[in-house]
Amino acid sequence: MPGDLCIAFIGGGNMARSLIGGLLHKGFAATRIHVADPSAAQLELLRQHYSVHTTSDNANAVQSTQMVVFAVKPQAFRDAVRPLAAALTKTRPLIISIAAGIAEPDIRRWLGYDAAIVRVMPNTPALHSAGAAALYANHFVSVEQRVLAENLFKAVGIALWVDDERHMDAITAVSGSGPAYFFLLMEILEAAAGELGLPPEIACKLVQQTAYGAARMALESKEDAATLRKQVTSPGGTTAAALSVLQEAQLRGIFLRALTAARDRGAELSREFGRESA
Ligand SMILES: NC(=O)c1ccc[n+]([C@@H]2O[C@H](COP(=O)([O-])OP(=O)(O)OC[C@H]3O[C@@H](n4cnc5c(N)ncnc54)[C@H](OP(=O)(O)O)[C@@H]3O)[C@@H](O)[C@H]2O)c1
Repeated sequence: MPGDLCIAFIGGGNMARSLIGGLLHKGFAATRIHVADPSAAQLELLRQHYSVHTTSDNANAVQSTQMVVFAVKPQAFRDAVRPLAAALTKTRPLIISIAAGIAEPDIRRWLGYDAAIVRVMPNTPALHSAGAAALYANHFVSVEQRVLAENLFKAVGIALWVDDERHMDAITAVSGSGPAYFFLLMEILEAAAGELGLPPEIACKLVQQTAYGAARMALESKEDAATLRKQVTSPGGTTAAALSVLQEAQLRGIFLRALTAARDRGAELSREFGRESA
């Protein structure tokens, strides 16, 4: 990141905090970060933990910044953007949106000029520098701005570009909501281990380490997930017995339905808080 870059965050909640933590960890100066949020408690937390500039006035935060990250909920997005349009038209910073379902044309319409916009779908493991973010840039984003956006998300995990905004709802379903699926699976495994008589603390530790170990194997191996699964499944063995029950229960179909529901909800949010709201 260039040493003279200033970044403003509109909304100082969970995702903003994880990105700020990542930036500071990479050596970005706290004095170059400005955060606006309506909650005094939230701002106090940000000052104490990160020593960044804080304000309850959004217009104040975006003054003289080259990058503005909108980190508010989708339902709060339009009301956060519109009052800043006049100020942003003058300074033309890179606009980054991490809101699920808010489409780039809507953000551009609310801003009222040909804004350089990068739409991003991050996820919560960013809090532990293990995030997975997908980024989409509109035509007005320069090569230098692409690098800035990419570096922001690489500070807290991996950052991958997509060149079609239509992929964003599917990405929201896969990696934006994805941590919850893995947590649910861990919860289910822990409960089942309890039913099989294991003490809860043993079950919890075994499940957590198994999830971590499987993820590491998948990341560090050249094989795909299907091959790794086959490699740990001996014919007629214990794993095969478990997997055949999951197969009979149509687990793949269940996941397809779940991800389709998440993707469709993303599209619905877009209609609810974007295109249909003037
Ligand atoms: N958390 C995730 O897993 C995740 C994953 C991917 C993407 N995202 C996206 O990231 C965005 C932020 O999520 P989050 O979990 O960080 O939400 P969050 O913790 O609720 O943070 C949002 C913050 O923005 C504040 N805010 C609301 N209206 C504002 C305004 N007009 N100006 C300035 N600040 C305002 C909120 O204050 P109040 O609470 O007082 O309203 C809140 O402190 C969402 O759009 C979400 O879709 C989140």
